[in-house]
Amino acid sequence: MSKYRIGVLVGSSRRGSFSQALAHAACEVAPESLSCTFIEIENLPFYDQDLEESGEVPEDWTAFRAELESCDGFLFVTPEYNRSVPAVMKNAVDVGSRPASTKTWYGKPGVILSQSPGRTGGLGASLALRQALVYPNVILMNQPEGYFGEIAATIDEASGEISDEHTLGFLTKIMEAFADWVERVAPKG
Ligand code: FNR
Repeated sequence: MSKYRIGVLVGSSRRGSFSQALAHAACEVAPESLSCTFIEIENLPFYDQDLEESGEVPEDWTAFRAELESCDGFLFVTPEYNRSVPAVMKNAVDVGSRPASTKTWYGKPGVILSQSPGRTGGLGASLALRQALVYPNVILMNQPEGYFGEIAATIDEASGEISDEHTLGFLTKIMEAFADWVERVAPKG
């Protein structure tokens, strides 16, 4: 039975996105204790402190923050843009991190998966996202590290899904470790 609600944030909504394929595969192989909820970040208005302070908070921010609050932990799946995260992902971290008293991210377990058609597997994006999540205090799993290089070769062209056995095996290991991590770290009660 699923015990933990895991919010899934994906840094690309491109048609045929490798990140989306990776996120769906991760949820597919995840242990039963985790239940994935995909949270849309593509259309979130850019963070603007003036709107926050004048009380003109966009409805999309409020709905997004409520979704984060309802989650016990987070799965971040990101491509790498210019050795960092796409703006939509950084914006989601920022919008979720305010107002300062918010309990959206704070103290909850998280894991980052990055991918690239190139060899480096989005390492730069993963580490940049890790940096941004320190202050909001998402408690990120360190090991195993999930950098998925040469991702195109792991995808079945007809279905658009990850079909490579080795990749699915590694993903399963990561998600099993994440389920243990969530069990240890998720706020109780
Ligand atoms: C990229 N891409 C890329 N790849 C990489 O390995 N390192 C990088 O720094 C970048 N930078 C970058 C910047 C911009 C603006 C774009 C559009 C692309 C290539 C990127 O990995 C590729 O387009 C992926 O397919 C994007 O992920 P999705 O959309 O398939 O999930």
